[in-house]
Amino acid sequence: MANVNDKYAIRMMKADDYEQAFVLWNGLEGLGLSEADSPERIARFLQRNEGLSFVCEYEGSLIGTIMAGHDSRRGFLYHLGVATAHRGQGIAPLLVNEALSALLREGIDKCHLFVMEHNEAGQRFWSANGWEKRDGILLYSRGLESRGLE
Ligand SMILES: CC(C)(COP(=O)(O)OP(=O)(O)OC[C@H]1O[C@@H](n2cnc3c(N)ncnc32)[C@H](O)[C@@H]1OP(=O)(O)O)[C@@H](O)C(=O)NCCC(=O)NCCS
Repeated sequence: MANVNDKYAIRMMKADDYEQAFVLWNGLEGLGLSEADSPERIARFLQRNEGLSFVCEYEGSLIGTIMAGHDSRRGFLYHLGVATAHRGQGIAPLLVNEALSALLREGIDKCHLFVMEHNEAGQRFWSANGWEKRDGILLYSRGLESRGLE
């Protein structure tokens, strides 16, 4: 468990953290939520990607999250967020480091993430922390059930 100071603690995320995490995510501008963020789907993500997602607690309350997973080729980060009152203290980089270290231990040496185009502060955060904005790649998505692929 990493400490920012005595009152902050970073630890692995578990399914039981969902309720507090969802309250945090709902209050964050720039973080997109979908049906993939139901309690069941998040629990499944955590089980499938055990030990790769982290939370930051302040005096026992959840104030930061990061979720990481991989497909055995590349890692992916999701839901990096820090409660407004606790920003500007380097908590997000600590969460990112924990997730990247965990991915590296799994043999994953490259990681991607998605940022909403309108989330300019989010884009600035990633650029300021050593992440490269990719040109020349477009994201294509498809809902499977709606295309008859049930
Ligand atoms: C982005 C976010 C996670 C940053 O959390 P944080 O713990 O406050 O991060 P910090 O401010 O301590 O940032 C650490 C470093 O990143 C830099 N940084 C953070 N936000 C920045 C911004 N908007 N522009 C430029 N640099 C930024 C800081 O200057 C700092 O660098 P330094 O240590 O050299 O001074 C937080 O603002 C947040 O939860 N935003 C809403 C959700 C979101 O957009 N998440 C990303 C989704 S892709």
